[in-house]
Amino acid sequence: MTEICRIQNVELAGEGDYIILHREGGGAIRFHALWLRDNALDVRTRSPQNGQRLIMIDDIPLNTKITAATLDAPDRLTVEFQPEERSVSYSLRWLQEHSYDIAREHSVGWLDSSVEIWDKALTNRVPTADFETVKRDKEALAIWLGDIRRFGFAKMTGGPIKSGALLGVAALFGFVRETNYGKWFEVRAEVTPTNLAFTSAGLQAHTDNPYRDPVPTMQILYALENSATGGDSLVVDGFKAAKCLQERNPEHFEILARYNARYEYAGQSGVCLQARKPMIELEPDGELVGVRFNNRSIAPVTDVPFDKMPDYYVAYRALSEIINDPAMAVSFRLEPGDCFIVDNTRVLHARNAYSGHGTRWLQGCYPDKDGLLSTLATLEQENLGINDA
Ligand code: FE2
Repeated sequence: MTEICRIQNVELAGEGDYIILHREGGGAIRFHALWLRDNALDVRTRSPQNGQRLIMIDDIPLNTKITAATLDAPDRLTVEFQPEERSVSYSLRWLQEHSYDIAREHSVGWLDSSVEIWDKALTNRVPTADFETVKRDKEALAIWLGDIRRFGFAKMTGGPIKSGALLGVAALFGFVRETNYGKWFEVRAEVTPTNLAFTSAGLQAHTDNPYRDPVPTMQILYALENSATGGDSLVVDGFKAAKCLQERNPEHFEILARYNARYEYAGQSGVCLQARKPMIELEPDGELVGVRFNNRSIAPVTDVPFDKMPDYYVAYRALSEIINDPAMAVSFRLEPGDCFIVDNTRVLHARNAYSGHGTRWLQGCYPDKDGLLSTLATLEQENLGINDA
């Protein structure tokens, strides 16, 4: 975000097509007439009740020009628009917070500054919170949710040992998505498993349900019993794995981002879930935003050209080897009442094989990440005093 500075003066430029705000200490930021008009915060453009926009883009004349721009009060800029003959006042702080006149030097696979990638070295500082503390203390909740945004996973300890208690964790920040597995699902060895997750076999680190579109964005896995030998949980940072792949061979990264894989699940009567998505997902500006990896759910890949298929398989295998590298994994044991949450668009999870002695009973559910980020943003605004006005 652009640093907030005092504005010394405003200059009208480009025959009224844009203005230039000159900042104290040097530097200037520009705003176009059409952008300013579109983002007017007056009551005829934005609802004062809910902040939603009241006009369509077509309502703004394409030949909109600025005829005057004045710094007329502390933190205020008033702009006159023609041909609408409209005068709109802006907060200078708000304008600087929403500046788009900034240098962008993004390379392919760049990461947002809120993200920190990690490997096994994080084992000794796994982000963890106590359920009862987070339930009563908003600041502790904000720290825990902030850790999930930063690292893509976190543990929680000390929850109730009761079937369905995982919904109480999701309710701390948002809402659960119901799927064909139910509002929540059982993870324990079944006699006739509908999914290999419901056996005692070890599982390769994976993201869940890549055959859904949209994919479940978060997952909670909550332990109710765990006296079996083995069965420790482990997590791998998919962003770290993708960046390692890119460092070793940028072409491997590029081919997995460029071509779609296919994923499918039809292991239950009446269910045939299919998705066509890349293993490495980039935004149009190259930001790394997603990893989908699941050896059990991949379907025949048919979107890669014949000549590229050998390279695709080399890259796919190279990514798998990085994911399997023990130096990438953080592992931990869940006691009854403990759980962990992963950002399923980024962090892979797994468990080691466990023996038939003792029991291992987990429950899982899929809360949505947008609700988590919404709660976190609200808590952060409260802490900053933005809502105090
Ligand atoms: Fe899973």
